[in-house]
Amino acid sequence: MPYSVPRLSDFSPAVLDEAARELLSALDQESAAVDSESDWKLYRDRWMARKNGALTQLNDLWLKAAPGQNKRDVGQRVNELKIKVEQTVEATLSRIQSGTSSSRLAAERLDITLPGIRRSIGAEHPVIKTMNEIIGVFRNLGYSVEEGPEIETDYYNFEALNFPPNHPARDTQDTLFIAGQDTKALRDRLLLRTHTSPVQIRTMQKMKPPVRVVCPGKVHRNDAPDATHSPIFHQVEGLAVDTSITFCDLKGTLDHAMKALFGSNVKTRFYPSFFPFTEPSADVQISCIFCDGKGTRDGAPCRNCKASGWIELLGCGMVDPNVYGFVDYDTAKVSGFAFGMGVERIAILKYGVDDIQLFFNGDVRFLQQFA
Ligand code: PHE
Repeated sequence: MPYSVPRLSDFSPAVLDEAARELLSALDQESAAVDSESDWKLYRDRWMARKNGALTQLNDLWLKAAPGQNKRDVGQRVNELKIKVEQTVEATLSRIQSGTSSSRLAAERLDITLPGIRRSIGAEHPVIKTMNEIIGVFRNLGYSVEEGPEIETDYYNFEALNFPPNHPARDTQDTLFIAGQDTKALRDRLLLRTHTSPVQIRTMQKMKPPVRVVCPGKVHRNDAPDATHSPIFHQVEGLAVDTSITFCDLKGTLDHAMKALFGSNVKTRFYPSFFPFTEPSADVQISCIFCDGKGTRDGAPCRNCKASGWIELLGCGMVDPNVYGFVDYDTAKVSGFAFGMGVERIAILKYGVDDIQLFFNGDVRFLQQFA
């Protein structure tokens, strides 16, 4: 119900006080409801129109109707109310124009000038990044990529790689075996592969020479985790088999790869070693990248190479002819080399990381540094 000015019969101060209070409260309530300029015009006219606006009614129903002895008092009150009404109507207009109406406030709840929500898009893990870098070096030499399963049989992980039955690498100390395999023949028992070398066998089973592949992947060993050991790590295997591949090709290839990964100043050295599936076998050492192969740094023995000037990095060798026997390659015709390198080890050297566990703890503060 819109407010209308009451006709008064009693002009006592108490009745006038109450009537004035009601009028002002209606004035304020209606003002608060005004939300737009067209609203406001109707509001202004209800209160101030010369013809039948509330102020005109005040004049007619209160002032003109008041008996002589009340005229003075009523006149004063009506004047005060007039001023109040004019002020309130005025203030209502400025409120709307200054844009604080509730509809405007509601519309501006969405502030399109605020910066948007940034979602970080993630990045390659340093191990994967290093692995891809290694693969890239060999891709440029014409190698392709082969992968194999992480759960392997004893046959692929050991037997076909010429491991004799009691070779220490088959020991439970190193290998994580899948439980409940005891009723199977040894060669069929499942285990977590301890190296990527089984992919050599799988590759030679499905491809005839010439073969040039790298095989990246995760491997598992029963090692307690510490700063240099992890039960899970990654390797990149390499295999090249053709009709006249020599140890010189192996040396040249790995020397090039180490220079590509660590810089052209790096030297390589091939140190006699043993693997059941290569003969001869070698460990490849690179000149220490921390002391430039000098063995000392800032007058003190280099800690990274134990003052030797060399860092051991990977295993390699000429594929043992016995291995060809397992994959139906003609031992008289083919020759080849293989190598296997630990990805974390290379990442540790390249990036100066002092604890292999950092790669597996998932701490974003560490990982972000490689993004
Ligand atoms: N598989 C060997 C290891 O894990 C590395 C290696 C690969 C050695 C290929 C020679 C040839 O230690």
